[in-house]
Amino acid sequence: MRIVSGIQTTGNLHLGNYLGAIRQWVAMQDDMQAEGGEALFFLADLHSLTVAIDPAERAATTIEMAATLLAAGIDPDRSILFNQARVSAHAELCWVLQGTARMGWLGRMTQWKDKAGKNRDGASVGLFTYPVLQAADILVYRGTHVPVGDDQKQHLELARDIAVKFNADFGVDLFVPPEPFISPAAPRIMSLRDGTAKMSKSDPSDASRINLTDSDDAIAQKMRKARTDPGQLPETMAELVDRPEARNLVTIYAALAGIGTDAVLAEHAGQGFGAFKPALADLTVSVLGPIRERLVRLLDDRAAVGVALERGADKARALAEPTLRAAQRATGLQV
Ligand code: TYM
Repeated sequence: MRIVSGIQTTGNLHLGNYLGAIRQWVAMQDDMQAEGGEALFFLADLHSLTVAIDPAERAATTIEMAATLLAAGIDPDRSILFNQARVSAHAELCWVLQGTARMGWLGRMTQWKDKAGKNRDGASVGLFTYPVLQAADILVYRGTHVPVGDDQKQHLELARDIAVKFNADFGVDLFVPPEPFISPAAPRIMSLRDGTAKMSKSDPSDASRINLTDSDDAIAQKMRKARTDPGQLPETMAELVDRPEARNLVTIYAALAGIGTDAVLAEHAGQGFGAFKPALADLTVSVLGPIRERLVRLLDDRAAVGVALERGADKARALAEPTLRAAQRATGLQV
């Protein structure tokens, strides 16, 4: 088993990233330790080039996000933590795979359609080919399992299609079609302002998300202001089908507490949000507060975080090079 996953360096990490991805990464890193597999986690700084960001800010964000992953429990002695740009095999394999991926496959990607909007001619080529780089990120390590949120499912299916077509086209058994691993507890955490929209780094409203850097007061305030309805909490999740905001808060509570949604409702049924929100805020603070405190300490020594990333990149390179070379040989490239 080899676990591979990444996160785009385009802004603050939030509760959706934590519950949907990072918390699984930490758990799986421990499983890999027990099973003798590898866990590779990276800051997808190449992917962040599809968003206009000031270069100094991009560099700082990469370090800050890496520090957040360390604070959340990623251990560079047990996992391989690095930034994508330092391991050139990602970009090199991406180019090889551009010969395999089809325009039609990429054109169907919902993230491309959402992000490009109506102005497709003005969108960057990188935004269109983004999922090919994502496929390369995984395939270059022959990753078997990819812990991600539900929103990445389509990109993972594309990575599988690319792996299968490459192997068939060149008569090799090189790439392993990766399996997504989606957290059953928190596949998709929604915005605090709109229960039908995903909690996202790119939402212009900061009140829509809990950032992992938010103070206890900010967390409490955002939870207090979270959009809800005047109803009370029912006894079953089935009764929340038409109440997306309420469903989201119950899901967040359950995921943070590590219990089922039914157990949350068993405890809080009959309560209105005036009572539930403070309990949710306290629980959120109890989970995120210690991460934030560790993050503040880690950011006192940014250079040390940079060194940890360099060491991770050395280990990642050693695992990536043989697969890249094999792909180059299979396609007849003389390198
Ligand atoms: P990104 O940076 O948008 O998100 C990082 C991870 O967090 C998950 N996530 C969520 N999970 C639950 N609820 C949410 N509201 C939520 N928002 C984000 C994402 O599903 C993801 O797992 N393209 C990827 C980065 C990437 C990658 C890869 C991932 C690049 N190469 C290779 C896996 C393998 C992205 O933009 O994730």
